[in-house]
Amino acid sequence: MDSIVVTGGAELRGEIPIAGAKNACLTLMPATLLTEEPLTLMNAPRLSDIKTMTLLLQSLGAEVQSLQDNRVIAMSSLGPINTLADYDIVRKMRASNLVLGPLLAREGHATVSLPGGCAIGARPMDIHIAALEAMGAQIELKDGYLHATTPGRLQGAHIPMRFASVGATENTLMAATLAKGTTVIENAAREPEIVDLAACLSKMGAQIEGAGTSRIEIQGVDRLGGATHPVVTDRIELGTYMLAPAICGGEVECIGGRMELVTAFAEKLDLAGISVEETARGLKVKRRNGRVNAIDVKTEPFPGFPTDLQAQMMALMCTADGVSHLEETIFENRFMHAPELLRMGADIEVQGGTAKVTGVERMKGAPVMATDLRASVSLILAGLAAEGETVVNRVYHLDRGYEHVEEKLSAVGAKIERVPGV
Ligand code: UD1
Repeated sequence: MDSIVVTGGAELRGEIPIAGAKNACLTLMPATLLTEEPLTLMNAPRLSDIKTMTLLLQSLGAEVQSLQDNRVIAMSSLGPINTLADYDIVRKMRASNLVLGPLLAREGHATVSLPGGCAIGARPMDIHIAALEAMGAQIELKDGYLHATTPGRLQGAHIPMRFASVGATENTLMAATLAKGTTVIENAAREPEIVDLAACLSKMGAQIEGAGTSRIEIQGVDRLGGATHPVVTDRIELGTYMLAPAICGGEVECIGGRMELVTAFAEKLDLAGISVEETARGLKVKRRNGRVNAIDVKTEPFPGFPTDLQAQMMALMCTADGVSHLEETIFENRFMHAPELLRMGADIEVQGGTAKVTGVERMKGAPVMATDLRASVSLILAGLAAEGETVVNRVYHLDRGYEHVEEKLSAVGAKIERVPGV
């Protein structure tokens, strides 16, 4: 398996282009199942998770082609459609469960493997199930699979979600576009990826109001048509690269970045002593002076501080001046990067859902192990600031969510390379 070798100490200067959002693309792709006409996504990210979703959709009978150096995904689901989402693919990526709503809406039945737990938490699907059941689906769990059927068409319903789940909101939104009557999702997730999905579905002919707020109203239609849609910018990749000059010093312009995607995150950076300036092409980030200030962070659903940037923020706080507290409220086990950062000389105490980080002047390079996607990149960021060499092993997680991380960072002066595994 490949590893990434980072030698710390270099200041970063230049531009980093930000890709289309992985999490938006992973929910836009299953929308192909809602129509027999072509759906084309532009600005797609080149990631292994996108390949996994491609394989899943192909296994269901969709045609999926990657064009223009994998930047464009052209899909068509004329049928016949197979309604079994197999464990072998679903277990690789939890977002595979996003085919459940579209399959049920189109075919009236679906058999989708439960994804199982993942390193960061148990991640059940009760909110997805409750929403689809409210729309008239019967769902039972047998042999590790959700067997969902609906006697006729799904029915519009009033759906108060017990938690603003991103995936459950997406599944419900897609299912509701083809349901009979009006669906209202209360306590809906408000993430930009949901706004992007609603924008694409609207181009396909769906009637949706309120995406981006806690109340989404969908008027079901009889059929949806095709569309061409550019994937929104990846706010997590953006936030990750905004942290690079914050940690290493220097100045980096993240091309394609927009402030409204990272408002809560940029406010925290400002308190830490990092300036973020909007430019015509993106966001320019630089550390104001000396060591960054220790700040406290609590992860929350959008528009709060994203859980997907918590590990990276911890890497910054490891060398901050003072003590910071990072509270994780979305996933129950999302501090696996902490023991790896300890190996690099960080001072971190984890108690329940909070990590107390006491900043040290300088971290030291070490061999470390990537445990999940965002943890992997936090170790790379820490390595960029550490003295000596850091070897990040098990980087396949990284390739799920970051395209060519070593190329993007070395282009701004980082000493980083990929060493192919044997
Ligand atoms: C999405 C993102 C992921 C991000 C997360 C939270 C994708 C592909 N992934 O994941 O990167 O970290 O949002 O911003 O978009 N939950 C339940 N029951 C459910 C559904 C969720 O208890 O039916 C819990 C989960 O276990 C978790 C929390 O709710 O603790 C948040 O999950 P959710 O918002 O659904 O995240 P995902 O859609 O899985």
